[in-house]
Amino acid sequence: MHHQPVMLAEVLSLIETYSRHARILDGTLGLGGYSEAILSRFPASTVLGLDRDEQALNFSRERLKDYSSRFRALHANFGDIAGLDECRDFDAYVFDLGVSNMQLTLPERGFSFQNDGPLDMRMDSSDGKTTAEEILASSTAEDLAKIFWDYGQERYAKLIASAIKKSPAPITTTGQLVKLIRDTLPQPVQRKMGTHPARRVFQALRICVNDEAGELHRLLAGLSEISHEALIIFVSYHSLEDRMVKYSFHEWQTNGKGKILTRHPLTPSEHETEENYKARSAKLRAFSLNTY
Ligand SMILES: C[S@@+](CC[C@H](N)C(=O)[O-])C[C@H]1O[C@@H](n2cnc3c(N)ncnc32)[C@H](O)[C@@H]1O
Repeated sequence: MHHQPVMLAEVLSLIETYSRHARILDGTLGLGGYSEAILSRFPASTVLGLDRDEQALNFSRERLKDYSSRFRALHANFGDIAGLDECRDFDAYVFDLGVSNMQLTLPERGFSFQNDGPLDMRMDSSDGKTTAEEILASSTAEDLAKIFWDYGQERYAKLIASAIKKSPAPITTTGQLVKLIRDTLPQPVQRKMGTHPARRVFQALRICVNDEAGELHRLLAGLSEISHEALIIFVSYHSLEDRMVKYSFHEWQTNGKGKILTRHPLTPSEHETEENYKARSAKLRAFSLNTY
């Protein structure tokens, strides 16, 4: 599976400069891109990788099997970090938020508007949580419009939500949802969007299905309780997440819990955004906990 880790050079350089780079927690293991680079760059390091997606864990365990003496993967939700004994005492905690390429590419996961598949979108398919299909079926038009606006900044949220609720048959596949959006939005609007007409609705549904804002909130609260020196790094891809990280870092600094290392968020180089479309919206923020 092809995957270019986003802002990897910046992540490695921060770990090198601001931590003892001995014990690293990769809180969003995904396809193991960060973990592999960390294990290879810092030969004395050990890495614990967390993911809520078992497919990602299996893929990365296989990919990183040569490092098995220094690498471990754990099926866990980072929102639970405060209660996980395995997650204590790391020198650096790294989080690369959002979806992995594997989730986006496998049609059966239902994340992609480019492949037809069931409208699922659960990162953790084992936890029995609500799927995107169930959210479309059980929400009112007002609730759907709010989801599309809050999590996708979709300007035509109300129009699309009302078309979904008026659909004569339930929407159960990604293909059906894409077609409905294409049939609903006027052609000139679609031409002016500058992106796939379904992109924002898909993003919003994914964030809602996985309660991504709620989990990030719980993670930030958990990290704020760490009482030893630690480097915290976040790479985020939309303004809602970036704002949450930014406000928490400011609050931590104001409360004397350490210092912000990135006064302004770092962004990928022009070269990286040309090479990797996913990187275009990335923002990196770092905090040094309990150093003064
Ligand atoms: C952008 S990918 C990480 C890619 C990784 N840095 C790499 O280089 O391969 C994000 C990963 O975070 C996982 N994830 C998202 N929310 C999570 C959560 N609350 N707890 C644990 N893992 C989560 C997703 O399942 C996905 O595999």
